[in-house]
Amino acid sequence: MKFKAIRLYQEDGRRISRMVEQTLADLDPGDVVIRSEYAAVNYKDARAVTGVGNVISRFPCVPGVEVSGTVVESKHSAFRPGDRVTVQGGRDFGMRRDGAYSEYVRVPGAWIGRVPEGSDAFDMVGMGLAAYTSAVAVDELMRHGVTPDKGKVVVTGGTGGSSSFAIDMLAGLGYHVVASTGKVSEHEYLKKLGAAEIIGRDGLTTGDKPLEEQLWAGAIDVVGGAPLDKLLRSMQKRGVVCAFGNAAGETFTTSIYPFILRSVSLVGVNANHPVPERGEVWQRMMPGGDLHPRHIRDICYTIPFLQLQAHCDKLIAGGVRGRAVVTFGG
Ligand SMILES: NC(=O)c1ccc[n+]([C@@H]2O[C@H](COP(=O)([O-])OP(=O)(O)OC[C@H]3O[C@@H](n4cnc5c(N)ncnc54)[C@H](OP(=O)(O)O)[C@@H]3O)[C@@H](O)[C@H]2O)c1
Repeated sequence: MKFKAIRLYQEDGRRISRMVEQTLADLDPGDVVIRSEYAAVNYKDARAVTGVGNVISRFPCVPGVEVSGTVVESKHSAFRPGDRVTVQGGRDFGMRRDGAYSEYVRVPGAWIGRVPEGSDAFDMVGMGLAAYTSAVAVDELMRHGVTPDKGKVVVTGGTGGSSSFAIDMLAGLGYHVVASTGKVSEHEYLKKLGAAEIIGRDGLTTGDKPLEEQLWAGAIDVVGGAPLDKLLRSMQKRGVVCAFGNAAGETFTTSIYPFILRSVSLVGVNANHPVPERGEVWQRMMPGGDLHPRHIRDICYTIPFLQLQAHCDKLIAGGVRGRAVVTFGG
């Protein structure tokens, strides 16, 4: 059986992805084979496909960290052909082992989660790592005492996949959400998700002093770099910033004063957990839970597998909103 996959190669110091014909013998070993139905496109997947940064560290490799589909072969006691399953992040999937951008994937059974009875496979991958990471960040804000009565919560990179879910969840919980975005054309979209206010990327602080006007009780930051410094300097007393992204930069310089004079907290989030290890937060994201996103179908849209490489170029250039979900086959 032959099928299509995207593989990233390293040749003469350059990284190049190609759509190639594969057989199961070309894939990394594992005890379960899944026919792919949907795969997500995260920022790091776009970096992997376009060869930016070091997401992939083994060559050649199939990128993509999230997929859903149907089991077609299994040597694992928990799974049988016909089971509807999803593999999302965790370990080396799509980074150091062949990942999601393939019409068939093969993985260890321990990485696989089930698509719950009555749930939609599209919704599972649509939410995926983006919504789960935002849910972990929202849960951290709550655990650190940032309740809706404390003040405004700002979300950076507002139109991105993860941020869209963060806005949706925070608004659903009753927070006054301020979305920061570089896209003036997407204000209606952000309002629909629940943003009460929208600001440009330069609106995170009022100036350049070590301590600025106290604007935010909480913040979810997906961009890092200089905007994270601005956020820290404009937090209220006991404000909390949850940071999990690097779209604006991997490093930043800031002032010590927000920490030692305003007791501001900077909380890091790493949500790269496979579905079987996600626990309570993932359960709260299911229909009926307090963290279930209300706008999955506004945030997520489908693109055909054959358009994935072009879509990744556009995402890296900052030109997409929400979250693309790849569809396979006919
Ligand atoms: N730690 C973890 O476990 C974890 C899990 C998931 C994701 N992440 C990270 O979270 C970040 C977001 O991921 P995603 O998949 O949601 O990405 P995404 O859909 O590409 O969203 C990123 C958003 O950031 C904004 N942005 C892009 N380039 C920027 C720049 N140069 N300066 C300022 N803002 C910029 C854009 O929003 P606007 O145009 O609206 O401003 C963009 O839509 C990534 O860095 C990703 O690696 C981390």
